[in-house]
Amino acid sequence: MPKMVFIERDGARREVDAPLGLSVLEVAHKHGVDIEGACEGSLACSTCHVIVDPAWLPRLAKATEDEEDMLDLAFGLTETSRLGCQIVITDALDGLVVRLPAGTRNMMES
Ligand code: FES
Repeated sequence: MPKMVFIERDGARREVDAPLGLSVLEVAHKHGVDIEGACEGSLACSTCHVIVDPAWLPRLAKATEDEEDMLDLAFGLTETSRLGCQIVITDALDGLVVRLPAGTRNMMES
């Protein structure tokens, strides 16, 4: 089974099993990694924002325009930011590394 690595807000690395066909958001939830995903993957929030390790970015499918629009609302946007619910695990992504952003816009507002 593919694995992926989350780099938590405190810098800790967590390597977890990443079943094929699950999104990065679903993998995070399965392992208790703290990514919110308020809209559960329907591209209506930006709380599943993750920062992809630059080495991995070329292997991901390009973001759709809808994803880009939502990302524009994400707090702490970077050049390798993506929405975790839109990255689906494939064999090619075995070993994928993503970092959790410092915060999300929802947290900032609450
Ligand atoms: S969970 Fe809302 S856009 Fe990803």
